[in-house]
Amino acid sequence: MAAPLAGVRAVVFDAYGTLLDFASAAERSRDLLGDRAGPLTELWRQKQLQYTWLRSLMGRHADFWQVTGDSLDYALDSLRIATPDLRRRLMEAYERIGPCADARDALKRLKAAGIKIAILSNGSPRMLAAAVRSAGLDDLLAETLSVETVGIYKPHPSVYKLAVDRLGVWPVEMGFVSANGWDAWGAKAAGLRVAWCNRSGLPRERLGEPPDVELTTLAELPAALGLP
Ligand code: 2OP
Repeated sequence: MAAPLAGVRAVVFDAYGTLLDFASAAERSRDLLGDRAGPLTELWRQKQLQYTWLRSLMGRHADFWQVTGDSLDYALDSLRIATPDLRRRLMEAYERIGPCADARDALKRLKAAGIKIAILSNGSPRMLAAAVRSAGLDDLLAETLSVETVGIYKPHPSVYKLAVDRLGVWPVEMGFVSANGWDAWGAKAAGLRVAWCNRSGLPRERLGEPPDVELTTLAELPAALGLP
């Protein structure tokens, strides 16, 4: 049987949660946060995504750095732990975020097989450049694409179309990989060939056509592409 993503020549990855481990930001302040690091990460991320979707619906785009700061303020307030020093440390750590454990090896295998690799993310260009460098992934990427080019957040179809327009391959030759279910379903709705990296064993989204393949780790991606 053919591999689900056979024939793909360029693979575009989501950044935060897929290649970049956003939980590492709060982990670096565990000395101040203690057991609140986990709840803070969860609430911060939930609010961050909500604000992207709400701003897109409201027609009030602000870049991901602002949205990340606003959602952090909400989360710190909600947990009643807001201090200027903690906020500064967490935002600095978000710029120097670590890689997901399975990211670098998977990217190296793809690159060695001649696959073009890119990022397509909500992140602003400056945030992405800093994070990709500190995560040690910059040497593996051909392009880092930001939603700032189109001025609206995922899962708007114009975001996924940006990757097709910029990567110089036919849509059928482009794969998209995300650990965020809603992002994987969004890319599928925009007509891409999609792998959902479901590391936590979450239920499938009820958002229409499912991704082409579900992985439990990025280590399974080369096989899904039919690489030896
Ligand atoms: C991103 O990098 C949604 O966090 C996700 O675009």
